Amino acid sequence: MIAHRTRLDRFISRETGINRRDVRGLLAQGRITVDGTVARDIQQIVHQFTLVSMDGAILQNNQPCYLMVNKPAGVVSATSDQQHKTIIDLIDRLNRDSLHIAGRLDFNSTGLLLLTNDGRWSRNLSLPESKVTKCYRVELENPVTDEYISAFAEGFYFEYEGITTQPAELNIISERVAEISLTEGRYHQIKRMFGRFQNKVLSLHRYAIGNLQLDPELSPGQYRELSSKEVTQIGHPPRVPIT
Ligand code: URA
Repeated sequence: MIAHRTRLDRFISRETGINRRDVRGLLAQGRITVDGTVARDIQQIVHQFTLVSMDGAILQNNQPCYLMVNKPAGVVSATSDQQHKTIIDLIDRLNRDSLHIAGRLDFNSTGLLLLTNDGRWSRNLSLPESKVTKCYRVELENPVTDEYISAFAEGFYFEYEGITTQPAELNIISERVAEISLTEGRYHQIKRMFGRFQNKVLSLHRYAIGNLQLDPELSPGQYRELSSKEVTQIGHPPRVPIT
């Protein structure tokens, strides 16, 4: 499988071992098809999910895969781990080893986690300029007060990264429960933000990414495929505010 864009002649040569000059001959003879159409142009671009065949035999036929998982606590957001169960261990699919995580959650955090084999899609989601909002519900050790709201909106200076966090929206739900919307994902970001008030996060649950809500039908540890509408819409802002 290839992760990035490649020129067709390079792709054929790499997959078959045939040198690039001879690949030109194959193309001239109409023996290569790309997405079902006879290919003639050596410069045609092949992506990860382009269907490529030679003499009717498939050279590449990767299917894009997008999963939403309800991550339970005590599972690592990683593809392998020596000690703990990983999010990939929860997936019972043949292609599970080709999947990667689009936006991690900490070991004890729960909720919406996205897995995919589509590097372009996950990169778009995580680009700072995409400004995809991630929404969390947190339970705190101490009461949360109105002064937090402006502090979260103004941002916190993170010395280690040398950045000030982007404005975050905080809604106080009850004395020790708040919801927070972020457009970035720094290491332990929410815990560090509440840490500025010496207020420990007792539980952290992500319930939405962009306009995609965690499916309430999924119990912790369960997953489902995203619909094609969800795949294309996730980067777009929600039409109604998430409450
Ligand atoms: N912020 C955190 O501190 N932890 C998470 O899992 C996600 C965001």
